[in-house]
This record gives sequence, C-alpha cells and structure tokens, in this order.
Amino acid sequence: MFAGKIKINKHLDLSRLPAHIAIIMDGNGRWATRRGLPRNMGHKAGCENLKRIVQHIYDLGIKYATFYTFSTENWKRPKEEIDGIFSIVRDYLDEDGDSFLERGARVVVSGDYTKLPSDLVDSISRIVEKTKNCDKFTLNLAINYGGRDEILRGVNKAIESGEKLESVDDFSKLLYSSELPDPDFIIRTSGEMRISNFMLWQMAYSEFYFTKTYWPSFSEKDLQLALIDFQRRKRRYGSI
Ligand code: IPE
Ligand code: IPE
Ligand code: MG
Repeated sequence: MFAGKIKINKHLDLSRLPAHIAIIMDGNGRWATRRGLPRNMGHKAGCENLKRIVQHIYDLGIKYATFYTFSTENWKRPKEEIDGIFSIVRDYLDEDGDSFLERGARVVVSGDYTKLPSDLVDSISRIVEKTKNCDKFTLNLAINYGGRDEILRGVNKAIESGEKLESVDDFSKLLYSSELPDPDFIIRTSGEMRISNFMLWQMAYSEFYFTKTYWPSFSEKDLQLALIDFQRRKRRYGSI
C-alpha cells in the first residue's frame, strides 16, 4: 500500500486539506448486484477500495481518516453476509499490519469491537497495539459503531464518574474518538442522503458531500473532486 503515484488535480490546494475526513462507505451490495455478483463480492471490492483510498488520503497528507465499516444496526443483516464482512476486514488488517507500521500509520477503533468474533477481535487488538506509537496518520475504523450507542456510553461514563461535566469538550473526551479532532468533511457514497447513525455528536460543524457513486467505484480522482468541493465552502461556525 501507500504507492503515491496518483496525479493531483490542479484545482486541489494541498495546503488547505481537512485535518479529519470521514467516509460512510455505502453501496457495496448494489455494486455487486448490478454486476450479477453475490453481495459479499461487493464487500470484497469495497475493502480493496478502502485500501486504495486510505493510501491516497495518506499520500495527500491528511492526518486523520474515519471509515464507517460496520454499524450497530448492520447486525440485522443475514449471518452469511455479516460473517463475510468480518472475514474481509480481518484479512485486510492481518495482511496490512506491517505496512501500517512502516508508514507510521496508527490504527484506532470507534465502536465496541469486543463484541465481534474472537479472531477479528485478535486481529484488531494486534494492529492497534502494534501501531499505537505511530503518529504520521491515524486510521479510525468505525466497527460495531453507532452514534447513539456511543453517546449513551458517554452518558453512563459521566454518571459513573459522579462529576458534573462543565463543557462540551468534557463530554467529547468520553467518546471513542476522544483523541481525534471532529471530522471536518464527511463523504457518503451510493446516493443515500442520510447519516445512518454515524458520528452524531462529532458532526456538529462537519461539511457534507454526497455522491451517487457506489463505494467500490469511488476513486482517488473522485476523492480529489470532493476535496475541491470542500475547499470552496466557507465555514462560519455560527459567526458571520
Ligand atoms: C456498505 O455497503 C457496507 C456496509 C454497510 C457494511 P452496503 O452493504 O450497505 O451496500 P448497499 O447499500 O446494500 O448497496
Ligand atoms: C451505513 O450504511 C453503515 C455503513 C456504511 C457501515 P447502511 O447501508 O447500513 O445504511 P442504511 O441502512 O442504508 O441507512
Ligand atoms: Mg447500504
């Protein structure tokens, strides 16, 4: 991974990239169905694309990236599909572990990954431990993640601590992503115009980008076009 051979669009300003980009990788199933393939082939292709896009985000010099990989609601899917997704993610982490380390890329997780199958829990724990001191780039995998579940856990932690929270930042520190800045830019592929329980707390001032392209077809070029769109926006944070 991390080849760094992609041409940069001349309209993209590399000095004004988001610090944290988050992607709702949607449309794997429809990508496969349209090709007459089983849905899990779509997840396989989606994972190949995850590798490509992670590499490109790293090459561009963006520091933080979150990818919505499996939601707390995705347990409603057939067991065969769920097992397929988990084994694809496990293979990715097992195969790419060393290359993350070599590139100074840290892997962290949002979501209760201890509830996943034990082989995947092992793979995740291994890569998180192995890369914990890397500081060039952070890949946050949102897996068994739900925004409401995360907020509920935060509330319970606050109650357990017995101390009143004084600020919004105090609450942010109780969330999975406490070490990451809030996402500046959130992309959702596949044409759905919804959030599906992703980073509800953190997205207060995120910029959004929706594209009809299914995730496995979302290319480095598409990412650059999205980033150019991001750079055209004026973020006001309530000010004028
Ligand atoms: C996103 O693709 C991947 C996961 C939710 C795990 P989908 O599997 O949701 O693909 P569509 O939306 O059915 O096409
Ligand atoms: C969101 O996609 C979850 C992930 C991309 C992991 P879904 O496909 O689960 O969302 P809905 O069901 O269309 O809202
Ligand atoms: Mg979907």
